[in-house]
Amino acid sequence: MKALILSGGHGTRLRPLTYSQQKQLIPVANKPVLFYAIEDVIEAGIHEIGIIVGPNAEQVKKTVLSREWDAEIEFIYQGEPKGLAHAILVARDYLGDDDFVMYLGDNILREGIVRHLEHFKKGNFDASILLCEVENPQQFGVAELSEDGRTIKRLIEKPKVPPSNLALVGIYFFRPIVHEAVASIKPSWRNELEITDAIQWLIDHGYKVGWTKVEHWWKDTGKPEDILDANRLILDDIETDIRIHTNARIHGRVIIEEGAQIDGSTVIKGPAIIGRNCVLRNTYIGPYTSIGDSCVIENTEIEDSVILEGSEIRNAGRIVESLIGRGVKIMNSDNHPLGRKLVVGDNSQLIL
Ligand code: DAU
Repeated sequence: MKALILSGGHGTRLRPLTYSQQKQLIPVANKPVLFYAIEDVIEAGIHEIGIIVGPNAEQVKKTVLSREWDAEIEFIYQGEPKGLAHAILVARDYLGDDDFVMYLGDNILREGIVRHLEHFKKGNFDASILLCEVENPQQFGVAELSEDGRTIKRLIEKPKVPPSNLALVGIYFFRPIVHEAVASIKPSWRNELEITDAIQWLIDHGYKVGWTKVEHWWKDTGKPEDILDANRLILDDIETDIRIHTNARIHGRVIIEEGAQIDGSTVIKGPAIIGRNCVLRNTYIGPYTSIGDSCVIENTEIEDSVILEGSEIRNAGRIVESLIGRGVKIMNSDNHPLGRKLVVGDNSQLIL
């Protein structure tokens, strides 16, 4: 069994962060989203992993290879992101005649894939998908089940009028017959080869398509609010691990990485994580906050936010529900003329 993890695409809904980085590399609780997928696959006993890369191929390779994995990892270049089924076409040689799990690199599934993989194997299915009840099915692929609820009748990509609230999770198990399916379908209205159409082809041609339901939470981290949400959900499960000495007041579950310097007038209320070599002075870090490596934060309150590495925030008042990119500087001006002096990238969002 192999895994195909998708880390291509343009990530337009996460601009401006995705102008400079691939969306699957944005950290949640200080770990790139993509790493959650790789860890799930390895946990399920799969040690041959192909990673689909696109616009920022080198960045993805460098980040993935910065860690040691119990797996052989190959990178497969997709070029233009022409759809999830197109990614399978591109990976045809790599996948050969093996069964495989396709895992979208921007998805996080708390329970991992072990139970779902077992169902695929035991049920002798040609394909098996994961379904999750959601409040906004219009934003996903949606499944319509048969009357007795046992089999899948139809799959529709982002329907205006959804037939159910069962969204397709971005994790799919396939037998090699899927290669015939992806070679047979035509591009959709958005000019992509849709994986939902390929699975529908399998259903229509009498192949056996199974499904399992997600029991814990699942997140597609496509938009900034999803990153904040995923961050809250992951931080909910952390255990305290403080690697430095500090006189700061610390409440609740908090991770503080090596090299951080945190003074005695700082207050941290978990769940929160503070990255390596951060400097925090006279600062309040509130629940559900992740501060990336090497950030400097002074005389500021930050709560329920994700701050990426190398940012500097001084005298900035109170920051909440924010997603702040790498190397960002936020500070209070004390020179005339007073007022907000902004250098802000395209498609940024400031709510002051
Ligand atoms: O997350 C679950 C949803 O993922 C499913 O419910 C939908 O049925 C499925 O089509 C997909 O919808 P999205 O609109 O979220 O797909 P997106 O275009 O965001 O791509 C998903 C991931 O795959 C993302 O990490 C980028 C990567 N990708 C995407 C395309 C289209 C590629 O690597 N190559 C591609 O060609």
